[in-house]
Amino acid sequence: MSKSFNVAVAGATGAVGNQVITCLEDRDFPVKNLKLLATRRSAGRKLRFKGEELPVEELTESSFKGVDIGIFSAGGAISEKYAPVAAKDGCIVVDNSAAWRMNPDVPLVVPEVNPDAVAKYSDKGIIANPNCSTIQMVVALAPIHKEAGIKRIVVSTYQAVSGTGKKAIDELYNQTKAILNSLEPEKKVYPHRIAFNCLPHIDAFLESGYTKEEMKMVDETKKILEDDSIGITATTIRVPVFFSHSESINVETDRPITPDEVRTLLENAPGVKVVDDPSKNLYPMAIDAAGRDETFVGRIRADESVPNGINLWVVSDNIRKGAATNAVQIAEILAQDYLSN
Ligand code: A2P
Repeated sequence: MSKSFNVAVAGATGAVGNQVITCLEDRDFPVKNLKLLATRRSAGRKLRFKGEELPVEELTESSFKGVDIGIFSAGGAISEKYAPVAAKDGCIVVDNSAAWRMNPDVPLVVPEVNPDAVAKYSDKGIIANPNCSTIQMVVALAPIHKEAGIKRIVVSTYQAVSGTGKKAIDELYNQTKAILNSLEPEKKVYPHRIAFNCLPHIDAFLESGYTKEEMKMVDETKKILEDDSIGITATTIRVPVFFSHSESINVETDRPITPDEVRTLLENAPGVKVVDDPSKNLYPMAIDAAGRDETFVGRIRADESVPNGINLWVVSDNIRKGAATNAVQIAEILAQDYLSN
């Protein structure tokens, strides 16, 4: 890669935006000029990139002129409003919000699973990054789907507070500290206390009784795997963990597949690391996945209650592979395959 690119990070001061800056540096993305965008409140703050202090600027309609790639993580409303504005100025948007994911003219991409879908960016100039819980699930399941055909997925998640953003990280820290000091914990972000608790509630409730987060896992998985026939049901839970989502996944396949075959398949799958040696107490854990880019899979075993059933435990850093790394990987595909001439 010899060409370099003007890159903007919208939401640069947030939990994901900050990690995007780190990923661009860690992965040595060919950045010519990096523009850091946030609210007016943050304008003038300095953030480090490759040993330099770069100023944060206020995000406005004219922010994207001359920018090649814009990585957005400033929330759905900002993406809805500014992604088309950026695209009009010739900036290709890689969007972390849910705003564009299910738009039929916007590709929804996990580079290990459907890298060729990036080509569709030319329709609107926007590429969507899937929901964090969906990304780690499809990284682990796509190889099984290809080999044995997945008929049905039952997933329950254990999601870290960092998925809600910086304020939620502070809330878990402050509530924990308050409780351990026998003080009354303050609630600002979640409707209930998150410290020492689990909330079966992520994103808004729908009339069906499911939450939006649960339906994101259903709809986005079908779009990424290009298969509407898979039956999927999800229960998403917020747990008092700072980083990394964990998922208990049960799949039923069309063709029989043994746990050993799944293990071998996943050992050779891109972006996956199998950690599965119960005799040594080895299995994926949130604390080990934090700060890493791989999706960790373990507890691979047969579900003996159905003919072709497999159970898995899947853990990944929701801010890295679940958001920032996936977005930067998409930018790498753009840079290598579409913008290098
Ligand atoms: P700011 O820090 O100036 O509020 P998180 O997901 O961790 O809460 O971060 C959200 C990110 O999105 C932050 O960088 C925040 O900037 C940015 N953001 C939120 N609202 C806007 C807005 N209206 N315009 C620009 N950036 C925004």
